This record gives sequence, structure tokens and C-alpha cells, in this order.
Amino acid sequence: MQTISIISLKGGVAKTTTAINTAYLLATIHNKKVLVIDNDKQGNASKAFNVYDPEDSYNVAKLLLERNLDIGQVIKPTDYKNIDIISANMDLLDANLRTTIDTSRQQQTRFKKALTAVADKYDFCIIDNAPDINMSIMNALTTSNYVIVPIIIDQYSFDGLDILKEQIENIREDFNPSLNFLGCLITQYQNNEVNNQGIEYLRNMGFSVFKQSVRKTVAKVNESTFAKMPISKYSSRCGAAQDYKKFVDEFLKLISPSENVPNLGTK
Ligand SMILES: Nc1ncnc2c1ncn2[C@@H]1O[C@H](COP(=O)(O)OP(=O)(O)O)[C@@H](O)[C@H]1O
Ligand SMILES: [Mg+2]
Repeated sequence: MQTISIISLKGGVAKTTTAINTAYLLATIHNKKVLVIDNDKQGNASKAFNVYDPEDSYNVAKLLLERNLDIGQVIKPTDYKNIDIISANMDLLDANLRTTIDTSRQQQTRFKKALTAVADKYDFCIIDNAPDINMSIMNALTTSNYVIVPIIIDQYSFDGLDILKEQIENIREDFNPSLNFLGCLITQYQNNEVNNQGIEYLRNMGFSVFKQSVRKTVAKVNESTFAKMPISKYSSRCGAAQDYKKFVDEFLKLISPSENVPNLGTK
């Protein structure tokens, strides 16, 4: 199982949109077995996959709190054959606080330990993170092979990037030498000078940026959230859906250059 953290310290940059569409495309077009972990107490990825339940305690918080967790108890099926999910709700707030003060066993490796039992069952684990650095995010980074950082190019886009990069370096040194910063994904891209200069600036700062950006496609992406469907299913021909498809192709080529990415002829 290859584990990918979708992460940023900023909210509203399309972390959840990227996580659910990447999971959906890997599962459908590429026929991969995917486990999604909702690592945000807001539960937006859980809502998108129709499994959000504010009262259900069998969620991601258990990965932090239960020492001998039977992981099968917290994994839920979704409407999609190849996608399972570990959901989130407000329990994650308390779980984070309790983990932070519980030094009786290692705090950052709890996700990793809990997931070992299903590592052979899935090809990919996609973790949708909250815009934060807390115990559950450190756990996500400790169990991840790759980090993808969605970015909207605006006046504030680059705030916090250095802190995030430093955090990733720290986790790599202390807990997870196989953690790779795979790249920044420009979301809500508009072909204008600000966007194009922003991408240049990022590259000059030493950040790798995916060649494929995701176009701003307001109406369709908003509608898809109400329809509780990934945009790639809701409107597979709209700009954002087509871009996510190419992004996932690029992602697969990056992590396994020999991967045979099917060409379905869509432009
Ligand atoms: N490519 C896009 N074009 C237009 N709107 C988008 C696009 N991607 C995401 N959005 C919208 O931006 C908002 C934030 O996206 P979301 O994935 O929830 O961000 P995050 O998880 O980083 O907070 C949502 O309302 C979503 O519908
Ligand atoms: Mg989100």
C-alpha cells in the first residue's frame, strides 16, 4: 500500500476535492483498491462519500486512541466497489488532545501501527488532512510515502509553506525516512499572469509543482458537493474533472514510472 497525504496549512485550497477525486479515479479508471482516511474533524471527505455520522464512534479517532484496534471495525465500504473509508467527525478533536498528553506510548506512530494489518489489502491509502499541524496530521505524515500540497495561487498562497516543509523534514528525520514531498498541485487554476508567475515563484523557491493544474470550474465543482459525488463522476467532461484525470496519470507515472497508464483517448 502506498500512502499519500493531501496536506496544507490552509483551508479551502481543494484538499478534500483532490483527495476524493484522486481516490475515485484510482479506483475506477485504474482499478486500484483504495482506502480513504478522513483526517479532518469537519468530515468533508466522509460527507462526500455519504458515510458521515456525527454519532458514530467507529472513526479515525480510534486509530489514535485504541491500543489494540481491530482496524476492520472502523473501515466502511462506500458506494464505489474499490473504495473504502475511515470516516471522521468531531471525535477527532478530543482524540488529538488526548493523544498529545498521553506519553505512555509513542504518539506519532499510531496510524502506522493500526494500518499495518490492511497494508496488503489496498494499493493506495489517500489521507485527507485538516489545515493544521496536530497529532493526527503528524500520524498521517509518519505513515505516508508521499505528500501532495494543493495550492490556490493568490496573495496568501505561499504563507505557511515553509512551516509545512519544515514539519515534513522533521517527521522524515524522526519517524519516517521514506516520506517524499511529491509536489504542489495548483487548484482553481486560471490562465493569467498571477497564476503563471506564482507557479514560477514556487519552482524558484525549490518546490516541485505538478505539470498538470486543475482549472477553476466553479459551478460544476460546487454542484458536485451537493450531489455528494466526486466531480470526476458528477461531470466527467468539465475542466476540473479532465484535469484531475491527467493529474492522476502524472502522479502514477511519478511514483512508478513503469506503471502502464491506460490512454482512454480523452483530451
Ligand atoms: N477546481 C475547482 N474549481 C472551483 N471550485 C473548486 C475547485 N476545487 C475545489 N473547489 C471548491 O473550493 C472549496 C474548497 O474546496 P475543498 O476541497 O473543501 O478545500 P479544503 O479541503 O482544502 O478545505 C469548495 O467549495 C470546493 O467546491
Ligand atoms: Mg477539506
